Amino acid sequence: MDAMNVDYDGLIPNNVDLNADRRVKAALEKWHPGYIDWWKDMGPEGFQESLVYLRTAVSVDPKGWAKFDYVKMPEYRWGILLAPKVEGRTIPFGQHRGQPAWQEVPGEYRATLRRLIVIQGDTEPASVEQQRYLGKTAPSLYDLRNLFQVNVEEGRHLWAMVYLLQKYFGQDGREEAEALLQRRSGDKDTPRMLGAFNEKTPDWISFFMFTFFTDRDGKMQLEALSQSGFDPLSRTCRFMLTEEAHHMFVGESGVGRVIERTCDEMKKHGVADPADTAAVRKLGVIDLPTLQKKLNLHFSLTLDLFGNEISTNAASAFHAGIKGRYREDKLDDDHQLEGNTYPVQRLKDGAIVKEDVPALSALNMRLRDDFVADCAAGVGRWNRIIEKYGIAHQLKLPHVGFHRHIGEFSKINADLDGQVLSDAEWEKRRGEFLPSDSDRDFIESLMKPENRPGQFASWIAAPKAGIDNKPGDFEYVKIHE
Ligand SMILES: [Fe+2]
Ligand SMILES: [Fe+2]
Repeated sequence: MDAMNVDYDGLIPNNVDLNADRRVKAALEKWHPGYIDWWKDMGPEGFQESLVYLRTAVSVDPKGWAKFDYVKMPEYRWGILLAPKVEGRTIPFGQHRGQPAWQEVPGEYRATLRRLIVIQGDTEPASVEQQRYLGKTAPSLYDLRNLFQVNVEEGRHLWAMVYLLQKYFGQDGREEAEALLQRRSGDKDTPRMLGAFNEKTPDWISFFMFTFFTDRDGKMQLEALSQSGFDPLSRTCRFMLTEEAHHMFVGESGVGRVIERTCDEMKKHGVADPADTAAVRKLGVIDLPTLQKKLNLHFSLTLDLFGNEISTNAASAFHAGIKGRYREDKLDDDHQLEGNTYPVQRLKDGAIVKEDVPALSALNMRLRDDFVADCAAGVGRWNRIIEKYGIAHQLKLPHVGFHRHIGEFSKINADLDGQVLSDAEWEKRRGEFLPSDSDRDFIESLMKPENRPGQFASWIAAPKAGIDNKPGDFEYVKIHE
């Protein structure tokens, strides 16, 4: 079988020659009905029978890997796809640097690898659960389809991690695969593993911010794991990154279209002051200060996913050759970092200061810095839309110490510039930084479904181009079929 093309004949599409691997095939086939039950229970509510114009991966060739067609979501072909093997690949970093990449799990790293795969795997179904009610308030069929595309691909990412667990981790791998279907986002007894994946995604602004920020965390984690010396993990993550790009596109273009619509209406009706939220809201669009608060919320929740400032786990995963840095293979140093330092923002005597710490223990922060730079570029593109309308206003990323629940800054209250506030000041000013109840009520009041082909809700502009080059009035979701 050609690794570029996918075998679609069996129950589980794959390019890993599952037919020749009866033990793993049987394990996956056993897991499959539970997955479908989970999807029907926790996947997009109210649209399981709708025909959705979705892309499905039919190849791992970067030049043409997807095919588009109408499909009912529970019948989506979730498959197992790994990027092609690179012959002669070696471990790119850490103490085993230069040795052949592992094709099997090294015994000494089994527990660490399993933990990383389970944590990554847990985020995938979690986001589907978080987004399950959004279909009811989609601003257009185009957006509805994008939501579902993201959802089915997060489902596929779960399959990707479950394959690794079942193929390489025996009985405990099968147990972890089961447990991935049991935890529930936001459940008080059996929550998902990471905080941001237990938060609500109550409206479409949150959805776009989530796909912009939190899926971008996904990208950074996948980038770091795609460098792994454990080759099957690297190959799995490399293909997942191809899909992830669309998720971030949905977020960036979604927020961009909200900004465009707001600025357009402000211009048309002569509202010059972006801070005049009452005047802007009267136009049926979302004022830029409220958008900024949503940004502050989702950025800060996502930063928590990078973990503690100083991390021995991150150091040992790097040293072991399991989890690398962002674009490790493009970096020009010794890839071992033994004597190096890295500057990290820390809390010292109640203030936030930069400190040089051993580079190995600062790897979480290094990845987070790369993430922040990636986010800042996207925010810059949003600001260019505002500029184009001649409106004097900029969106910006808050300080990394703002509104944190993990790490050193969880002990303090900081404002958007990283100035430490007393508890009383924080309480008083909280509504300046984060969405208030009335902001949430206003956004909720706009969340009315728009299901007519080619039509868009008042608060969002039409996209520049259709999906798969479809025309503006294309019926991306046939809701009643
Ligand atoms: Fe994902
Ligand atoms: Fe994603």
